[in-house]
Amino acid sequence: METLEAINTRRSIRKFILKEIPDDAVTKILHAGMCAPTSGNQRPWQFIVIRDRVMIDQFIEAYPYSKKMLPDVPVTIMVCFDRNLEKYEKRWQIDCANATLCMLLATHSLGYGGLWLEIYPIEERINKIQDSFGIPKSVVPFALVTIGHAAEEKPPIERFDQSIIHYDKW
Ligand SMILES: Cc1cc2nc3c(=O)[nH]c(=O)nc-3n(C[C@H](O)[C@H](O)[C@H](O)COP(=O)(O)O)c2cc1C
Repeated sequence: METLEAINTRRSIRKFILKEIPDDAVTKILHAGMCAPTSGNQRPWQFIVIRDRVMIDQFIEAYPYSKKMLPDVPVTIMVCFDRNLEKYEKRWQIDCANATLCMLLATHSLGYGGLWLEIYPIEERINKIQDSFGIPKSVVPFALVTIGHAAEEKPPIERFDQSIIHYDKW
C-alpha cells in the first residue's frame, strides 16, 4: 500500500477473527517502529512481542476493557521506554508515540487491523504490567499495539479541516 493511502485510510480496529500472523509480518512491523524519528536520535525503546495467551490474559487483567478485542488477536507488541537509553529529558513519550504510530501504519499497510491500547500514563496499569511481565522499574510500558485480522470494515473518515490551518501567523 502506498504511504499516503495507508495514512489516510488507517482506522482503529476493535473486532478481530483469530487467525495467525506470520513472523515476517511481525518483524516488518517492528522494523517500522524502529524507523520512527526520535529526539536527537535517542531511540529510547524496547519491544515485547506477546503471543502467549497467559500473558495476554495478564494484560487484560491490568486493562479490563481490552478483553473485548484481545482474545481474538494472535500477536501484540508492547512498546516500552527504557530509562537507561534516555539521552534527552522529557522527550521519550513523543519518541515512543512515534514508534507506536509507525507500527500501526505498517500493520494497516500489510493488510492487518491494529489498535493502540493505552498503558502510559495510567500509573496503576503501568505498575500491574511491570509486575506481571517482569519489567524492571527502569522500564515504562508505554502502549500495546494489537495486530490481527480485522472482523470489521471501517471506512476512512475525511478529517481535513481548512478552518484549523493558519498561514504565516496565527
Ligand atoms: C495515545 C492514544 C491512546 C489510545 N488508547 C486507546 C485505548 O486504550 N483503547 C482504544 O480502544 N483505543 C485507543 N486509542 C485509539 C483512539 O481511540 C483512536 O485512534 C481514535 O478514536 C481515532 O480513531 P481512528 O484510529 O479509527 O482514526 C488510542 C489512541 C491514542 C493516540
